[in-house]
Amino acid sequence: MATLKAVRGTRDLLPPETALWNRIEATARAVFARYNFGEIRTPVFEDTSLFSRGVGEETDIVSKEMYTWEDRARAQSEKPQSLTLRPENTAGVVRAYIEHKLGETGQLQKLYYIGPQFRRERPQKGRYRQFSQIGAEVIGPPSAGSESPLRDAEVLEMLATLLDELGITGWTLDINSVGSSGDRARYNETLRQALIPLPPKMCEDCQRRAVTNPLRVLDCKVPEDQPIIETLPKIADSLDEASKSHFAAVLAALDAAGVPYTRNHRLVRGLDYYTRTTFEFTHGGLGAQNALLGGGRYDGLSEAIGGPKAPGIGFAMGEDRLVLTLQALEAARPEKSDAYIAPLGEAMNPPALALARELRRTGLSVELGDGTFRLKKSFYAADRIARRIVILGEDELKSGILTVKDFSTGIQTRVPRAELAAMLKVPSGQ
Ligand code: HAM
Repeated sequence: MATLKAVRGTRDLLPPETALWNRIEATARAVFARYNFGEIRTPVFEDTSLFSRGVGEETDIVSKEMYTWEDRARAQSEKPQSLTLRPENTAGVVRAYIEHKLGETGQLQKLYYIGPQFRRERPQKGRYRQFSQIGAEVIGPPSAGSESPLRDAEVLEMLATLLDELGITGWTLDINSVGSSGDRARYNETLRQALIPLPPKMCEDCQRRAVTNPLRVLDCKVPEDQPIIETLPKIADSLDEASKSHFAAVLAALDAAGVPYTRNHRLVRGLDYYTRTTFEFTHGGLGAQNALLGGGRYDGLSEAIGGPKAPGIGFAMGEDRLVLTLQALEAARPEKSDAYIAPLGEAMNPPALALARELRRTGLSVELGDGTFRLKKSFYAADRIARRIVILGEDELKSGILTVKDFSTGIQTRVPRAELAAMLKVPSGQ
């Protein structure tokens, strides 16, 4: 019988890598708390129409990548319903905002989420069919200041802080404005006209997009098409005065806060709900799938799914890609335990457990070996998973003086039991 494996595009996360996932999530939660964000957890599946109306029927996500099924009715009172595993979480958050009438508080809602998303994409490094996003949204009635360019700049400044605190060095922030929905429609038409004579020289995808969705031509990565794309009209020239000054104010606040950015007039993003500010943070270490995170403003999304006017801005980080980046930066060497206790002989197992308990209760992470192991085997095991080894034999137990070896220096010392915990808390090598 063929062995069963995780489905294509999904994977198991195992220790020690899961420790890195947990560290990323803990850092994100701590940073979000400093900016006064609260956590929201929405269901993993939703009514399909939430995504077709919210994200947009013509987008790649909705037209080709969703896991959608017809859910059977189980009782007379139920109707069959088309359901979809969420491909992203912004539409779900805005649905919850409307459903729970959060706008009626009159306050800005600052919500973050961490969880799995699902897209039927072609799997490759950094691109999975189940992946995890860490995202946040700032949304509220205009009277709460939700349209202010300061919200955009504050979210971007928070992201710069979060990436720095995660230890992700060398990121680049690309930023653009796609204007109001009117500006976008006007620009789409301008592009359509400009593209009429060009497609025969361009790739097949561009030939199709030139007709169906001209904006997507700007996403093309085919090298031969790039000089042609560079000659196309730019969206900045289609923005109305209000969108232009909004964008200028976002950039001015970023300058004041010292957040570096690059203006990228081709950054239009693949979801239909964006208005005005759009952005992406990329990292060179990721290869083809180099977007660490993406986001932007979505001033009309609430109304598009039947809610009140509720402008918003947010982002989602690809957690899988944060992990890959940190691993590549070697900032994420597997966490080692503080100590490995090696009992000498089976009789030392019970006192070794007592010693492990004593040390762990002081907050130390401790691995416990086994008295049946030869000392050589204990050293071998300990060197791989712990910073130091503590040897517990009959002499040590009686005298209360333990032998400790620091693997980074190779130095062996004898330490009174009462001082052991404090000594193990000193970083190794010192
Ligand atoms: P998105 O650009 O579709 O935006 O996804 C955000 C991030 O999720 C990407 O930059 C990438 O890091 C990660 N990601 C996307 N697809 C995959 C995949 N197949 N495998 C691994 N990682 C992936 C959104 O989802 C918007 N909801 C962001 C947003 C929030 N905009 C406003 N608020």
